[in-house]
Amino acid sequence: MAVAMGKATAVTTGKRAQMLIDGSWVDGVSGKQISVESPGNRQIIADIPRGGAEDIDRAVRAASKAFASWSRVVPRERGRMLQKIADAVEARVEELARIVAEETGNAIRTQARPEARGAADIIRYFGGLASELKGETIPLGEHVLSYTRREPIGVVGAIIPWNAPVILAALKIAPALCAGNTLVLKAAEDAPLGVLWLAAICQDHLPKGVLNVVTGYGEEAGAALSAHPHVRKLSFTGSTEVGKLIMRAASERIVPVSLELGGKSPSIVYPDANEDWVVDGIIAAMRFTRQSQSCTAGSRLFLHADIFDDFLGKLAEKTKKLKIGDPLDEATDVGAIINEKQFKKVCGYVEEGMKQSGSKLLFGGLPPKTGPLAQGYFAIPTVFANAANDWRLAREEIFGPVLVAIRWSDEAEAIRMANDSHYGLAAYVWTHDIGRALRAAHAIEAGWVQVNQGLGQSPGHSYGGIKQSGIGREFSLEGMLDSFTQKKNVTINLNTPSH
Ligand code: NAI
Ligand code: MG
Repeated sequence: MAVAMGKATAVTTGKRAQMLIDGSWVDGVSGKQISVESPGNRQIIADIPRGGAEDIDRAVRAASKAFASWSRVVPRERGRMLQKIADAVEARVEELARIVAEETGNAIRTQARPEARGAADIIRYFGGLASELKGETIPLGEHVLSYTRREPIGVVGAIIPWNAPVILAALKIAPALCAGNTLVLKAAEDAPLGVLWLAAICQDHLPKGVLNVVTGYGEEAGAALSAHPHVRKLSFTGSTEVGKLIMRAASERIVPVSLELGGKSPSIVYPDANEDWVVDGIIAAMRFTRQSQSCTAGSRLFLHADIFDDFLGKLAEKTKKLKIGDPLDEATDVGAIINEKQFKKVCGYVEEGMKQSGSKLLFGGLPPKTGPLAQGYFAIPTVFANAANDWRLAREEIFGPVLVAIRWSDEAEAIRMANDSHYGLAAYVWTHDIGRALRAAHAIEAGWVQVNQGLGQSPGHSYGGIKQSGIGREFSLEGMLDSFTQKKNVTINLNTPSH
């Protein structure tokens, strides 16, 4: 696959991609490469630079240099640049959708195309917020003027995962740059191509060094970025395990950190919600059409005992109809798991579920070893009935299409089980009784609770986790202000003797 880039640059020669440092497309200092595999057919589609500490250092220096002038660009002018980037992405959204489908294995119709559109939407949203970088005045009396300014922090180091790569890139780039920061973004080694494509569009509209994108492994490029002395803010999306390393690196230099980490989100279904639209909602919340590679997947299904079997019967019927296969086929609902390691991990959980005493495999199971699905990393949507909340399958983030259904009859017990997790990202409540729904929503420990829907995040929505699901919010005006600016107070004595 040729990665088509913006007008300013020719980034790829055949299948070889480069990274963006200081406005130029470059190889890594080491000259080493990483192959990017398409999960749907296991073909190598591109090679990317295996960036390391020296590349990160060059990128951070470029971003530091660019900060002096970028931070002084009139905010609405920065916003206008972001709007132009959004227009340019929108005009070529189909190209981006195909790249994302091919590199992530996410189905083009259900996931990759909406993701490409969503990235443009996010950039447009933040582009419109530049004039909202407002401070306050503090009423300390007539003799004094005390006000705050929302100042950019400096060089932001952002590290993103592969599951929604261009949306997550847009979510770092747009608020960080709108607020006047410059950025070094480390793309995920498994899904860097859409991010590089987006970076090329951005570079057509930005001064050099404002946005730098480095590719490479987490332990190399990622660790070097999180430890770099000139990075003034760290923003990370990914696993809780790596989030802890990022926070540790941040603590060495007391830099602020935003972490959007894993989840094991509960869906609580009340007895009055044994209906088709709720079944559709559970499938949406579980993100089966993203192979459940979503931090907000509603992967613990708490079903009331009165409706347990009937509801699961309907869920099995509907889920079996999802078409698994080639991510680039418009008819496909469910694509492939990102890589072999994650695929084996998901299969390991399925095997464990089948061996678990008392477990009942309602449908799904291990993927076929022959036939078209064996060409790629295709996992089968799987549901275990009669699960218990203390199974490993109910405690750990599987990041694959394995749903556990747990029976409840007492509401307090359902909420206690829902909260018995070290995660606290999302939750879903399903009932016609609005009082019950809101009591549950308030009692559940999660950063985001949805009632009677299982949708994804939208711009404007302060989204993030509690407990080990993370710190900070980024997806909104307040998120931009809190995560990408720092407040300075200026206090002026108005009673100085006249001159
Ligand atoms: P990961 O957390 O290792 O990778 C995310 C990003 O962090 C990538 O860009 C990676 O290169 C980077 N990274 C890895 N190690 C690093 C280090 N030591 N220092 C700095 N950066 C580092 O996630 P991975 O290994 O791809 O997936 C493992 C599990 O993590 C998944 O099964 C899932 O449970 C969880 N995960 C959660 C995500 C979320 O959105 N909450 C996204 C991706 C994974
Ligand atoms: Mg990892």
